Amino acid sequence: LGCGTGRDCYLLSRLVGESGKVIGVDMTEAQLVVARQHCDWHAQQYGYAQSNVTFLEGQIEDLQALGIADNSIDVVVSNCVINLSPDKKRVLAEIFRVLKPGGELYFSDVYSDRRIPAALKTDPVLLGECLAGALYWEDFRRTLLDLGCPDVRVVKESPITLDDEEVAEKIGMVNFRSVTVRAFKVALEDRCEDYGQVACYKGSILNHPHAFDLDDHHHFETGRPLRVCGNTADMLSASRYAGHFDVWGEKTVHFGLFDCAPPNKSLSLESGASCC
Ligand SMILES: C[S@@+](CC[C@H](N)C(=O)[O-])C[C@H]1O[C@@H](n2cnc3c(N)ncnc32)[C@H](O)[C@@H]1O
Repeated sequence: LGCGTGRDCYLLSRLVGESGKVIGVDMTEAQLVVARQHCDWHAQQYGYAQSNVTFLEGQIEDLQALGIADNSIDVVVSNCVINLSPDKKRVLAEIFRVLKPGGELYFSDVYSDRRIPAALKTDPVLLGECLAGALYWEDFRRTLLDLGCPDVRVVKESPITLDDEEVAEKIGMVNFRSVTVRAFKVALEDRCEDYGQVACYKGSILNHPHAFDLDDHHHFETGRPLRVCGNTADMLSASRYAGHFDVWGEKTVHFGLFDCAPPNKSLSLESGASCC
């Protein structure tokens, strides 16, 4: 979503293989003109008979208008775009509409540790810097909760420093972070519960022979069983990762809350109720 000139679409084109498909959506025609110029070159480089990338011009708030059907997409990827949307809830609702059951939203964006003051939300400099529309983490979390996704996982995060004096003077009271998250279209609980389950990574994901990081606090070494909460067990067994993990244990016996927390409890951007 918000593919711009298509760089990430072409990376994904390689990852999904010749039989996979990638759709890039952007509202800016000029960006798509550049993006489309590189379809054939990438297909040739990857040895594909024809490009597996399609670019669609439109709003990420209305994927229906672009003909993207319910339950039709495996993974939605986006980089630094949702902060720019005036209607983030609609974008997120559209994402969960188009994802297949078990599908994944994997995206990075700019998050703030408080709501941006109204007077600064329309500031053109701050908008251009992707700061004015930054998602306040707790509002983002609540929006996902409303959409039926109570457990969003942080994959990685890093602070954003405001090097420009004009920008820092305007909005320096807010702390910003760049955060990459995973959210699954899987029925999950709002807290991590312990059912005595165990997961073991098979080492079978391409380029991850030794270990796989589901998020910032689930590092699965190949062949090494790890105790997991019910939500993690469900994420691993109902998503694209299913074939790459053995997950043992049913949810027949409950042992209470799962006792663990993410390692980086940074500022107020901690994962809150979605931790495990
Ligand atoms: C900061 S750029 C990021 C481009 C690309 N994802 C990347 O990482 O290089 C934001 C892109 O999102 C697009 N965009 C912003 N809001 C949008 C919306 N509501 N609907 C569709 N595209 C949007 C812009 O046209 C622009 O190409």
